[in-house]
Amino acid sequence: MANLAGCQRSSTVWLGIGSCFLLLIVGSYCAETCGKTVYDINNLRTTSNWTFNWTPTEGAGCLGNLSEAKYCTFFISFCHPLKCTGNDSNACLVNSNGSTPTAEYMLAGYNNSQDPFKDRNGGDGFYVEFPKGGKYNTSKGSECDLMLNLTFTCNVSYQWTPPHDSGQAVIDNGAIKSLLYDTERCKYAIEFLYAGACSQVVPLPSETINQLSTGSILLIIFFVALSLYFAIGMIINCVQGRRGKELVPHNEFWLNLPEYITEGFVFTFSCGRAQYVGKSYESI
Ligand SMILES: *[C@@H]1O[C@H](CO)[C@@H](O)[C@H](O)[C@H]1NC(C)=O
Ligand SMILES: *[C@@H]1O[C@H](CO)[C@@H](O)[C@H](O)[C@H]1NC(C)=O
Ligand SMILES: *[C@@H]1O[C@H](CO)[C@@H](O)[C@H](O)[C@H]1NC(C)=O
Ligand SMILES: *[C@@H]1O[C@H](CO)[C@@H](O)[C@H](O)[C@H]1NC(C)=O
Ligand SMILES: *[C@@H]1O[C@H](CO)[C@@H](O)[C@H](O)[C@H]1NC(C)=O
Ligand SMILES: *[C@@H]1O[C@H](CO)[C@@H](O)[C@H](O)[C@H]1NC(C)=O
Ligand SMILES: *[C@@H]1O[C@H](CO)[C@@H](O)[C@H](O)[C@H]1NC(C)=O
Ligand SMILES: *[C@@H]1O[C@H](CO)[C@@H](O)[C@H](O)[C@H]1NC(C)=O
Repeated sequence: MANLAGCQRSSTVWLGIGSCFLLLIVGSYCAETCGKTVYDINNLRTTSNWTFNWTPTEGAGCLGNLSEAKYCTFFISFCHPLKCTGNDSNACLVNSNGSTPTAEYMLAGYNNSQDPFKDRNGGDGFYVEFPKGGKYNTSKGSECDLMLNLTFTCNVSYQWTPPHDSGQAVIDNGAIKSLLYDTERCKYAIEFLYAGACSQVVPLPSETINQLSTGSILLIIFFVALSLYFAIGMIINCVQGRRGKELVPHNEFWLNLPEYITEGFVFTFSCGRAQYVGKSYESI
């Protein structure tokens, strides 16, 4: 009887430690820094990038020398990077003469430890402030950092539905309410209409879990299995009356593991010529 009670106590402790360990791992993998908003931004971030062409009237809205380009194309991604001028970025502007890109500008940087999403005061949608982009020359000739600030205002007509066939996700021209470029501060401010900015939702936890990569899921399964193996193994050993080191399932293997690994390294790095002489071999 006393034996059983003791086992119960120690197995509870081990299960507690195992659960904390599990929670820590699952928590660190599930924590999503990007997109903490009360609005529905799922459509925005499930696509690799959103794009629209801009035909400048009197040069407004595009960058660079426009005598060579007919229009410029905006590429914007949410919560994951796209490549621009060879760097990770959240937004890129590409000039085109209709067939070939003629210039590329990094409108925003990318930083996965910063959340660019911010709710607007008064429940009036949200805005997205990306990190600074590349260098550009102002209208006055001095250098500044390009910046992009997107505002999302409610309109139920614009769903921003991602394309089903992994094709290009194009922003409806009607969804662009305004596009302003401050030539002195190198700052873009674009206001979009978006149905997700209409109602406030409580993000479902299952959405976060859906965003885990296959690798993370395999890792979680691996650690769950490992914890279960040790927890159940220890309970069985404990009930069978084993104590101390002997509680660990297959303890001989686990305690000798460092030696096996050293042996493997010595064998590999000596190209199979040397033989490791360890304690376990001496005793044979
Ligand atoms: C823009 O490009 C055209 C054609 O290449 C050139 O003639 C013009 O001088 C350029 N303008 C500026 C401001 O660099
Ligand atoms: C666009 O530019 C490329 C390279 O500069 C040139 O080969 C092509 O003919 C141009 N196309 C048009 C439509 O101007
Ligand atoms: C990314 O953001 C974090 C937190 O604000 C900051 O500490 C870090 O320096 C940033 N990284 C870069 C490369 O800007
Ligand atoms: C892009 O990355 C390169 C190095 O890979 C760096 O030299 C360059 O300054 C970066 N450009 C921007 C705009 O950050
Ligand atoms: C800005 O202009 C200066 C002087 O004309 C030039 O040296 C520099 O390369 C320009 N910078 C960019 C980012 O175009
Ligand atoms: C970006 O836009 C929002 C709303 O339109 C505004 O509140 C915010 O101050 C802007 N951010 C910057 C850096 O201008
Ligand atoms: C939403 O957009 C549609 C189509 O552009 C427009 O007719 C309607 O007035 C807009 N609704 C609001 C509330 O702005
Ligand atoms: C944008 O996404 C499309 C696929 O939807 C991809 O082909 C394209 O290379 C992406 N553009 C950038 C700049 O990442």
